[in-house]
Amino acid sequence: MSLRLGDVAPDFTASTTEGEINFYQYLGDSWGVLFSHPADYTPVCTTELGRTALLKDEFAKRNVKVLAVSVDPLDKHLGWKNDINETQNCTVDFPIIADPEKKVANLYDMIHPNASETFTVRSLFVIGPDKKIKLTLTYPASTGRNFFEVLRVLDSLQLTAKHSVSTPADWNKGDDVIIANTINNEDAEKRFPKGVKHVKPYLRYTPQPE
Ligand code: BEZ
Repeated sequence: MSLRLGDVAPDFTASTTEGEINFYQYLGDSWGVLFSHPADYTPVCTTELGRTALLKDEFAKRNVKVLAVSVDPLDKHLGWKNDINETQNCTVDFPIIADPEKKVANLYDMIHPNASETFTVRSLFVIGPDKKIKLTLTYPASTGRNFFEVLRVLDSLQLTAKHSVSTPADWNKGDDVIIANTINNEDAEKRFPKGVKHVKPYLRYTPQPE
């Protein structure tokens, strides 16, 4: 069964490049990003894990813990990590799960047999502090993901978890947001003191709340 938005993210214990990790314990009260890549010692994956390492401070600022996973064994991950650090000018210090038995891959439905019988596709899950799935992404092996987009979605998810707003197309942190239609005009004026812009009864903007 594939995992859907709002489902509880399954817990697991796995061997990783940072030692044995229990997923829930590792996440604690943080947000999480769990993402699979098809294979070690491959070019696109090398750039993806390098980019993730370079964005370490951005993930930390947002209270997000990241974990990568593939079906390669631990010794291969450890060797490849040196190549990632060397070629991407980074220090990978987030866990890379070794999943040769495909335990995590199957739990999260990361193997799509019509794409590849053996390798994980580029799946990505954002998990909230309540351990529920907030975002799923699936990319083919040939297309590297945009990790700035992952940060952008995290900004939206964290903002909309706190305020009765949603974020419009192409929104970036600091841009105006949309007031939820569950809030009437009178309440909107009170809740959003920075101002309410009425475009249509169902489309009202306000500057991003703090
Ligand atoms: C890559 O990371 O470049 C890659 C991995 C598996 C299949 C195709 C490309």
